[in-house]
Amino acid sequence: MTILVTGGAGYIGSHMVFELLDHGEKVVVIDNLTTGFDWAVPDRAELVIGDIGDKKLVERVIRDFKVEAVIHFAGSVVVPESIEKPLDYYRNNTSNSRELLDAVVNCGVDKFIFSSTAAVYGTPMTTGPIREDAILNPMSPYGSSKLMTEIMVRDAALASDLRYVMLRYFNVAGCDALKRTGQSTKGATHLIKIACEAALGKRPFMGVFGNDYDTPDGSCIRDFIHVSDLVNAHYAALNFLRQGGLKFTANCGYSKGYSVLEVIEAVKRISGNDFPVMMEPRRPGDIPALTANSHRLKSRLTWSPRFDDLDTIIKTALDWESALEQRRKSA
Ligand code: UFG
Repeated sequence: MTILVTGGAGYIGSHMVFELLDHGEKVVVIDNLTTGFDWAVPDRAELVIGDIGDKKLVERVIRDFKVEAVIHFAGSVVVPESIEKPLDYYRNNTSNSRELLDAVVNCGVDKFIFSSTAAVYGTPMTTGPIREDAILNPMSPYGSSKLMTEIMVRDAALASDLRYVMLRYFNVAGCDALKRTGQSTKGATHLIKIACEAALGKRPFMGVFGNDYDTPDGSCIRDFIHVSDLVNAHYAALNFLRQGGLKFTANCGYSKGYSVLEVIEAVKRISGNDFPVMMEPRRPGDIPALTANSHRLKSRLTWSPRFDDLDTIIKTALDWESALEQRRKSA
């Protein structure tokens, strides 16, 4: 039996592929390579280049590879871009997920793990780490497109044998400690990657989008989770489903918040490089402060974090950024 990883050539998906292979699992990836890279998928996994919205292709892959479970990462992930191109997000994250789910249910696959997001909460009504039973009120098409898929998965499960886990990611960062894969996205928008690029001279400066929020230093606060801990939570989720678990939704974060300015200072300290930082206007769609209550994840799945430390996250991100530079030079 094989695990199907959609979006397995992307940042988080490729870490998932290594996690599964490290546990001796067989893996097939479907990725259309719009943002992923074929070289990010190791030879030990099968790569099928195609779209998850292509139901016939997905059904063929499920049958040919005797797929036991689907871990669904494929999609678009940039909050501000989703405000500019909402219909692209509803196609990539919602409509295509519907086709994928249809194929999964038609073929009788009964285990489904979905990469959802903290963006489904919108601006929290309370302060402090947010719980999974908080009101869901996304503030961006990105968050809405993911919430709609959560709802589809839930309803499809009610009407079939499908069992599922939905993991709501907070801010995923860092890279594989063995440097086998990392965040290679061109035109990055995520904070830690941008700061690492600035620290390594790949960009002349970086901006802070708003320093007038109602937070201690005026910049936004986020909960950063190391990508290797995140994919390990997916492996725990797979085992939960294998042991007969029916449904489970959990936040993925460490319940600790760091401000944008704190992150930039840490990148400067760890890299040993200073770089110019400009204060810029607020970015549309940003939530002032968002941290996860991660009690449910820790108590219900066999998961405990191994990289729960901002410096480790940043160090692995910097290491990968240097490795990418070497790869570019030797290409
Ligand atoms: N930021 C900057 N400058 C930059 C890049 C980012 O100041 O150059 C700020 C943003 O304005 C925001 C914070 O850094 O305040 C984090 O921004 P990211 O773009 O790194 O990430 P987001 O918080 O927008 O989104 C991420 C994921 C979502 C998830 C969300 C939950 O992409 O899936 O975190 O917190 F929902």
